[in-house]
Amino acid sequence: MSIKVTRTTAPALRELREVLQETRYDALQRAMRGAQYYMDPWPNYAALSALCARIPERPATLFRLLLLGDPVPVADANAALGRELVEALSKVGILHRAGKDRLETVNYSLISYQDRYVFTDLPYFYPTCRRKDTRIYIGADSYLLGQNLLSDCQGDVLDLCTGTGFQAIQASSPSNRIVGVELAPEAVGAARCNVVLNGFSERIEILHGNLYEAVGDARFDVIYANPPFLPVPEGVRYPMSGDGGYDGLAVLRRIVEGLPGHLKPGGRAALIAEGVGDDAAPFVARDLARIFKGGRWNVLLLIRGEMPLEYQSYVIAKMTSEVYGEVSCDELCDKWREMYEKQGATRLYSFHLYVERTPRGGRVETVRLSRMGSARDVPRLAPGLEYRPGTPSYFVYRDGRRLGEIDQETREFLELCDGRSSIGAISAQLFPRYAERYRDGGLYRALYEALNTCQTLSAMQVLVAGDGKGEKSRD
Ligand SMILES: C[S@@+](CC[C@H](N)C(=O)[O-])C[C@H]1O[C@@H](n2cnc3c(N)ncnc32)[C@H](O)[C@@H]1O
Repeated sequence: MSIKVTRTTAPALRELREVLQETRYDALQRAMRGAQYYMDPWPNYAALSALCARIPERPATLFRLLLLGDPVPVADANAALGRELVEALSKVGILHRAGKDRLETVNYSLISYQDRYVFTDLPYFYPTCRRKDTRIYIGADSYLLGQNLLSDCQGDVLDLCTGTGFQAIQASSPSNRIVGVELAPEAVGAARCNVVLNGFSERIEILHGNLYEAVGDARFDVIYANPPFLPVPEGVRYPMSGDGGYDGLAVLRRIVEGLPGHLKPGGRAALIAEGVGDDAAPFVARDLARIFKGGRWNVLLLIRGEMPLEYQSYVIAKMTSEVYGEVSCDELCDKWREMYEKQGATRLYSFHLYVERTPRGGRVETVRLSRMGSARDVPRLAPGLEYRPGTPSYFVYRDGRRLGEIDQETREFLELCDGRSSIGAISAQLFPRYAERYRDGGLYRALYEALNTCQTLSAMQVLVAGDGKGEKSRD
């Protein structure tokens, strides 16, 4: 079942956008979520539910119904959206009855970012999620690519693996025409709906198809992609949005191989992905050297994070066992670990990949930004940090310069960075306080999050990379 947008239902989506703007759906969320708003599409369910009690009834109903996926009384939905719009959104396939007196979304959630909106599936970890095997994906990686789109993105643009169309919608401007390509029919329906919802029907077209097959031999000025990239052991079921095949490169490799045939002269590509490798580099670096060996290409593999596979195996096995409920987490974890061992893989790298067609010369280079990749690493605070309260977050300053915004939990983490304790030791100390939050993955999950946090904080220059020689270390 997917969202159906026709010429007659399109006005309902335009009306919905007006309601969202009138009720400050995006601005309120930005204020309520603080720094987290910029990093992750998914608000903490319990925290946002609680905050809904403090805001006016109309936006509170919209957040409950459209963002959190709660069933709400029909009368409340009618008051917030208007009876006609409720009926129209039911016809499009976004809303349906939940019992006699309530309305809910058909497992959709409406994410907003910088005044642009996308319908996507409710995430498997929300208590309201009614189909855990989600088909329409958006995550922190989507935001990261959305925030790193090429600044002068003009001309013909191709967004491969478009999903909700988030990247295409973020990139849309009067000086470009964008084609999004997506294989999952449910995501195609959502992306087409999202294009209309944001008023970009004239500029963005969503095609249903398999990568470049959907565009024939057309060439583009810019190509974007956030493909599925997780390595999945043979015989294990995993959602298509993340399944990168046995080595994780099944889709990414085809995208990169197709760049020479689909970029115009001077054309550029920006991709985001993760990929396994050994301690030296992600394996994708070998593919890049092979594909671009003839010159005429500037290729930058920018590694921004890395994770020991020991933790990643546990986190991904836990999620998979929860989504499908077929195989136990321990059994799946063994499968992932065996696969990684066979591949000689030790780390999961997260990276940006920039490729540019150049008239002469060209080089393929790897830059490794991340230096904190193990729980043994000791994070050190940059000198002269100052915290100023925001709502509900903190701003971090150094020498009067704002470095960024952090939440309370991150602040507590930073307070324990004494220059001697490792990431592992700090996580173990904080774990009891957040045990409930990490209950699905125990200390592994906490370490996984802590490593991600450290990498973000070092990119913000709040932390100085550690050296793995902490006195109070624990891995
Ligand atoms: C990680 S999601 C990214 C979605 C979106 N670009 C974003 O950043 O939020 C990957 C998307 O690729 C789609 N996909 C997987 N294989 C594909 C293929 N061969 N051709 C086109 N899309 C594909 C999946 O259905 C999924 O929507």
